[in-house]
Amino acid sequence: MSAKIIDGKAFAADLRKKIAAHVDELKSKHSLTPGLAVIIVGHDPASQVYVNNKAKQTVEVGMNSFKFELPETATEDEVLALIDELNNREDVHGILCQLPVPKHIDENKIINALSPAKDVDCFSPENVGKVAIGLPGPVPCTPLGCLMLLRDELGDLSGKNAVVIGRSNLVGKPMGALLLRDSATVTTAHSRTKDLAAICKDADIVVAAVGRPEMVKGDWIKEGATVIDVGINRVDAPEKGDGKTKLVGDVEFASASERAGAITPVPGGVGPMTIACLLANTVTTACLANGLTPPADLTA
Ligand code: GUN
Repeated sequence: MSAKIIDGKAFAADLRKKIAAHVDELKSKHSLTPGLAVIIVGHDPASQVYVNNKAKQTVEVGMNSFKFELPETATEDEVLALIDELNNREDVHGILCQLPVPKHIDENKIINALSPAKDVDCFSPENVGKVAIGLPGPVPCTPLGCLMLLRDELGDLSGKNAVVIGRSNLVGKPMGALLLRDSATVTTAHSRTKDLAAICKDADIVVAAVGRPEMVKGDWIKEGATVIDVGINRVDAPEKGDGKTKLVGDVEFASASERAGAITPVPGGVGPMTIACLLANTVTTACLANGLTPPADLTA
């Protein structure tokens, strides 16, 4: 079998159109313009690129974007004071502090300072708990993107055997919770799991989020399975020339494509979904803050 390639870039573009339509409706019917505030501390070049992309896409869907750039030397108290100010602003419905922050700032203090009602990354313990028990609120962006791709590909996930490889707080754990909410039978595998190959061979769904290049081998994949590759790993590519590199996922793409029914590529699979889902979460929190039901197609 040669797998269908799941086009995350096109799916994310389509999702942003839906978000823009919901934003239009919130503006015209409720005089509500969702607003996303992004905080960046320091000058990490990769973080600058992420933050600029987030701000650009926020504006493109018609929402307000507020960007706060603090110097590398900003104190923890200064960042916490800014978060406190944003927690209290009515025109700000989502707040994101780009990680990592400089070493002298305690990441956990930052996460805990965010009002859960505006925590569009879904990092706070309160929001993690809501995801686990199915209450409305923001949903971790990358797992939400994976879930949307899976539902689009497979429809009902009920009773499917799903293996999530990786147990990070950011992806693996919430991914398992979301699949369970959709009534999949979920196995969460990790670095201590024995015989991962045997577990994968029984899986209708494989979500790979371990951060190890091409760790999941093609011959582990069940015929017709749906494979979602969250990994983005930069590796040497001598075949492209001296000193050249390329991006690969956590799954051995070429061999897995011969067995899978559908698979996400790297790049162009899950990656583009993450920012789109951040925008979706901002619509969700804006609605909840104003007593409105969040649009069902933007959440889990
Ligand atoms: N740094 C890398 N990814 C993320 C993310 O999803 N959210 C935040 N806040 N920082 C990040």
